Amino acid sequence: MKRFFTLLTLVPLFLSCNRWHVQSPDDSLRFCLRLSESRTPEYRVLQDGNVVIDWSSLGLVFAERSLTDGFAITGAKKCVVSDQWETVWGEERFILDSHAQMTVHMRHVSGIKMDLVIRVFNDGFAFRYVFPEQKTKQLTLLDEATAYCFTADHETWSIDWSTEYYEGIWTRSPLSEKDTMCSPITIERSGGGYAFVHEAALTDYPAQNLYMAHDTLKTYLTPWLEDGQISPVKAHLTLPFESPWRMVVLAHNLPDLTASRIMLNLNEPCKLDDTSWLKPMKFIGIWWGMHMKSMTWEQGPKHGATTANMEQYLRFAKAHNIQSVLAEGWNKGWEDWKSFSFTEPYSDWDMDYLSRLADSLGVQIVGHNETGGNAADYERALDEIYAYHAAHNIHAIKTGYVSPVIRTLDGLQFNKGQSGVRHYRKVIETAAKYRIAIDNHEPVMPTGLQRTYPNLMTQEGVRGQEWNAWSKDGGNPCSHVTVLPFTRILAGPVDFTPGVFAFENPVMPQTRVHATLMNQLGLFVCFYSPLQMACDLPENYMKHPDAFRFIEQVPCDWEQSLLVDGKIGEFCIFARQERGSEDWYIGGLNADEPRDAQIPMTMLDADKTYAATIFRDGENADWKTNPYDYVIEERTLCARDTLHIHMASGGGFAVSINSK
Ligand code: NOJ
Repeated sequence: MKRFFTLLTLVPLFLSCNRWHVQSPDDSLRFCLRLSESRTPEYRVLQDGNVVIDWSSLGLVFAERSLTDGFAITGAKKCVVSDQWETVWGEERFILDSHAQMTVHMRHVSGIKMDLVIRVFNDGFAFRYVFPEQKTKQLTLLDEATAYCFTADHETWSIDWSTEYYEGIWTRSPLSEKDTMCSPITIERSGGGYAFVHEAALTDYPAQNLYMAHDTLKTYLTPWLEDGQISPVKAHLTLPFESPWRMVVLAHNLPDLTASRIMLNLNEPCKLDDTSWLKPMKFIGIWWGMHMKSMTWEQGPKHGATTANMEQYLRFAKAHNIQSVLAEGWNKGWEDWKSFSFTEPYSDWDMDYLSRLADSLGVQIVGHNETGGNAADYERALDEIYAYHAAHNIHAIKTGYVSPVIRTLDGLQFNKGQSGVRHYRKVIETAAKYRIAIDNHEPVMPTGLQRTYPNLMTQEGVRGQEWNAWSKDGGNPCSHVTVLPFTRILAGPVDFTPGVFAFENPVMPQTRVHATLMNQLGLFVCFYSPLQMACDLPENYMKHPDAFRFIEQVPCDWEQSLLVDGKIGEFCIFARQERGSEDWYIGGLNADEPRDAQIPMTMLDADKTYAATIFRDGENADWKTNPYDYVIEERTLCARDTLHIHMASGGGFAVSINSK
């Protein structure tokens, strides 16, 4: 990573006042801090002079002491940072970190010292609790008093905090009608604009959840479990300690919301010495067949991960510009989903042969480690498992934790509790030693850790495509894919697994993909993932080779990205420029109402002409009645043009634009 310039000014603040504030570099956002009469730290945020979040309390409740009131401020300092850094991979190559920071030193009546570190960006703010080295060495956290007192009962998109694996349909309703929600939430502000409330740099702390109490949004931390029961304890802190950042993006419009990089900026710079081995790539896999029930994970007559099948998939990948192949069900243990071995293949899987074949074809194998929630055994064997994979030239692994609660080294725990969070970090750090990238399924919600550990390439944490194969409710509604880019995907890359080309499942006829074929292509641009799966079977792709051409071409690493247009729950259109190239890709996704989209080509270089291929819904396309009606056309484009593209119900489109 390259640092361009950093401007750092330290300004000691005048300490006798009772209020402190810090403003964004462009002065549009102002964060004010005060101590109330009971000496509780409280903050307020104004945007363009208007209060967005009114006085809201801060603090932490420990078993040893409640640090919610009785504070004195002992000092404060400010600095301004302007730093551009280069991503290893991502939605854009360069990210500007421009913020003002205020560190406020506080002392509690008990003698405990706590700093509040506040950062204000042009498009949002964040703060964290920091406990410097001091006499107290351990603290047992029972609660976090952080509140967000929004000034109106805004419409909010969220999923319930108890949604297993975050695999739920996001719903919109006023804050006052929400039960406890998972972080993040996306707020449509009544006066216009958006807010995105989340956390950043979650490494040794429970994941935050959010709930409304007395018109105020409050924090509910995921608890520890004790003998399977919810414990009052949320976290064990060893001092010195820094909490994750509490962050709120405040955007005027959806393009600004999707362009905010506050979460990444709040994470530590890359800790890996060498990142040259990390390559964004597309993959296919022995996978969809299991979800459609035409194959099995376990060995038997319909076993998917056999040497012969994998050989066919590897050769298909090679022929179609797909860089890697995932195989699930290659290893022993699928009979009970409990006693998995990650170093012993089934007898019909020849690991040595396949590893040599993949190597000779220049295609990678993506490993698969489903733990069934037994994180403890997995963690104990990590070095052995990753050494085995690395020895077979496997440098990307999809991990899995299918179990509502997981067994960590600390016993049965929520995966998003402190113990689970620690486990996932241990996995990422150990994998990095073996040059292994991770695609984490059943994860804790992403918080931007990929900046620090770019081998954490993608995660699930979403109601993905697989629900379209077997969900009893019939599959994901059309609107689902037009909500995710403004909610879950703002938290980080998503392994949604786009690219189904055959929509009906004879084994489960009540379920199907609610999309047209062109919608499935649009997902490759709209849903960002540096490990991007084309999930359908090769034989289904070969039924539409002309449409499959887009999947062959589309990259998954970008120079820059922008939202062209969108409305949460109705449609979205993204444009992305391939990293290191002049080529652009545009994708559109539509919910139920057919619509005509206008896409000005202003993102293109005004001095160039481009050859475009447009993959769009046909006149009669409709996800339910006619999903395979599509048109592919070639045309020349320049920056003055506007594309007019019809999107069907459940439809979409994809455009590749190559500079001539
Ligand atoms: C759930 C994951 O989301 C899915 O992708 C995977 O195939 C199964 N677990 C088995 O690991």
